[in-house]
Amino acid sequence: MKKDKKNKQEQESFEALSSEELHMLRSRLEELGEDRSVIPPPESRKDLVAQHYVKHNKPKVVVVSVLAVSFVLVVALLIALIVGVVNRRNKADYVFYFGEEEVEYKYESVVINDVLYVDMNRFAAYTGMTVSGSAERMKYLISDDQFLKFENESEYFVINGVKLLMPTPAYVKDGNCLVPYPVLSKAVEMGVSFQLESGKHIVRIVRKSQMVEDKEIFDAIAFSTLMFDQPAQIVIEEHELDMTYSLDISAVEAYIDPVDNERFLVLANPQHPVGPDYLPGTMERIPAKWCKKDMQLEQTALVALEAMMEAMAADGITDVYVTSAFRNYQYQQTLYNTYLNQEMSKGLTREQAEKEVLKYSAKPGTSEHQTGLCVDFITDSMNNNLTNAFEGTAAFMWLSQNAYKYGYILRYPDDKKDVVYYNYESWHYRFVGRTAACEIYEKGICLEEYLELIAQ
Ligand code: DAL
Ligand code: ZN
Repeated sequence: MKKDKKNKQEQESFEALSSEELHMLRSRLEELGEDRSVIPPPESRKDLVAQHYVKHNKPKVVVVSVLAVSFVLVVALLIALIVGVVNRRNKADYVFYFGEEEVEYKYESVVINDVLYVDMNRFAAYTGMTVSGSAERMKYLISDDQFLKFENESEYFVINGVKLLMPTPAYVKDGNCLVPYPVLSKAVEMGVSFQLESGKHIVRIVRKSQMVEDKEIFDAIAFSTLMFDQPAQIVIEEHELDMTYSLDISAVEAYIDPVDNERFLVLANPQHPVGPDYLPGTMERIPAKWCKKDMQLEQTALVALEAMMEAMAADGITDVYVTSAFRNYQYQQTLYNTYLNQEMSKGLTREQAEKEVLKYSAKPGTSEHQTGLCVDFITDSMNNNLTNAFEGTAAFMWLSQNAYKYGYILRYPDDKKDVVYYNYESWHYRFVGRTAACEIYEKGICLEEYLELIAQ
């Protein structure tokens, strides 16, 4: 114990010596035959100096140590925070692979009310679909009979013309569309595979392909309604209107609301003549069941007309029939001249008679009837007199409330004479497709105003 204390004291007394001095002392003791181990070897100088420093600078050493430890802790904390944030982002955000292309989405941009959504425009670009639409609706086409349609905040969507219900709505904004992943992956019947690694928040969408003579050929893509429950009755809530069909018209949906609806917006009026050579698309004969003489209508408009007539009949209205449909240039000329002569026979000059006739009959080349897209209705009770007595019929009441659901509009309303050029015609209905018909009906506008609206 005593020896230990003595050694410690000796040790401390050597601390202030330099390496050279320690060397000299050790050599001297050796020359004298003394035990040189009492003097520490010069190699332990660093320890001695450090001990000496700590001993004589205690407060400084404590402060520096505390600062160093704090610094290390702060750095560690920052690293932990950064790693945590990065990890959290990576964990929650989604990575979609559209084939080889990797697209990262913020969690909240593709997960809405706990449902995962797919960026439909990216999907369309990857699969080569044609995209069209408006502020509220989008269409994605592979071909005429392979397409999907979605509407903003609507739980209804369309597969190849069949309207179906989704568990959660689609969202359309600024030309972009988000579609629930479970719906899209179910709607694609072939040509694309979907794989969701939900734990890792990874979605892999891959086009199926085959190697043909060293060339990768993509499989055709097809949509199908098979994985969805088919509604017996179709209910459409468009434009905040509650529209209920009394019949299941799903089989003819593609006609009533055609994909190429612009084709049915052709304008024929005194300012927009279609001319003597205009011929509409494919014409078909209206079944005898719906008219009393031979007449034709454009084929899409005819399918929609038949669905509408069936629905009217199902609601008990059976005395209505079509009295005029497609009229060619020559026929319109005959009709116009007949009216002109009638007016002149009342004592009017040709000029006066023309002015009068133009209120209710189109000059040849300007009549909507030449487009094959409109019909004049009449009922048995009207005795072949096409007048606004039609307004008092049950058929008119029914058409006022339901025609737009079938893509038809009242073409010459009472309050639009100045815009449509003609007097009120409660019997004249024009096919424009349901998309346009709904908007025209809801807004209380006419075709001319609608065309101006969508041109903006
Ligand atoms: N009655 C309509 C205006 C026509 O003649 O086309
Ligand atoms: Zn007409």
